[in-house]
Amino acid sequence: MVQDYTEYLEKIILTEKQIQDRIKELGAEISRDYQGKELLIICILRGGVMFTTDIVRQISVPLAIEFMAVSSYGSGVRKSEGEVRITLDLNSSITDKHVLILEDIIDSGNTLASVIDMLKTRNPASLFICTLLDKYERREVDVPIRYCGFKIKNEFVFGYGLDMDEYYRNLPFIGVVNPEKYVPPT
Ligand code: PRP
Repeated sequence: MVQDYTEYLEKIILTEKQIQDRIKELGAEISRDYQGKELLIICILRGGVMFTTDIVRQISVPLAIEFMAVSSYGSGVRKSEGEVRITLDLNSSITDKHVLILEDIIDSGNTLASVIDMLKTRNPASLFICTLLDKYERREVDVPIRYCGFKIKNEFVFGYGLDMDEYYRNLPFIGVVNPEKYVPPT
């Protein structure tokens, strides 16, 4: 059995209401910015899935949704430039489309920097990033974020798409792990 998260939850940093209120604001902003255009949303799996399904319902311009999964080589290996590969590619062309990438969190920036490099070669009409969380203190590579939900400190967070040993992505809030109470799986 996975450890019960309530045993290591130090605090909730973003409540369900705070997240959903901010998503409404972002959705309105995106709807204004893309007025008269069509959007192609790219959800980066797996963390971005909760954010994607909630924010698309707050966007009023016509949109299509695609999914992409990327992975760093080797588990536990620190992500660095050149180590990111596509494990699930898009089903359709993004050429001449207005593309908006949706992520749950940007940490070092390496994942999205690689994704952007790859997608730019497919010649979209425009390509922007929307992230729910920006762990800005950890940035190693600069990535241009157009829409950001919340800037957060360098803490180990989980919930609302972010996993704890693959569990608890389904929590409606975002919490911080107390490392002294967390027991890694054997
Ligand atoms: C997380 C997150 C981003 C990436 C950010 O994904 O969803 O894709 O890490 O880190 P970076 O800015 O340091 O590159 P993860 O690899 O944990 O996969 P998951 O979404 O399937 O949990």
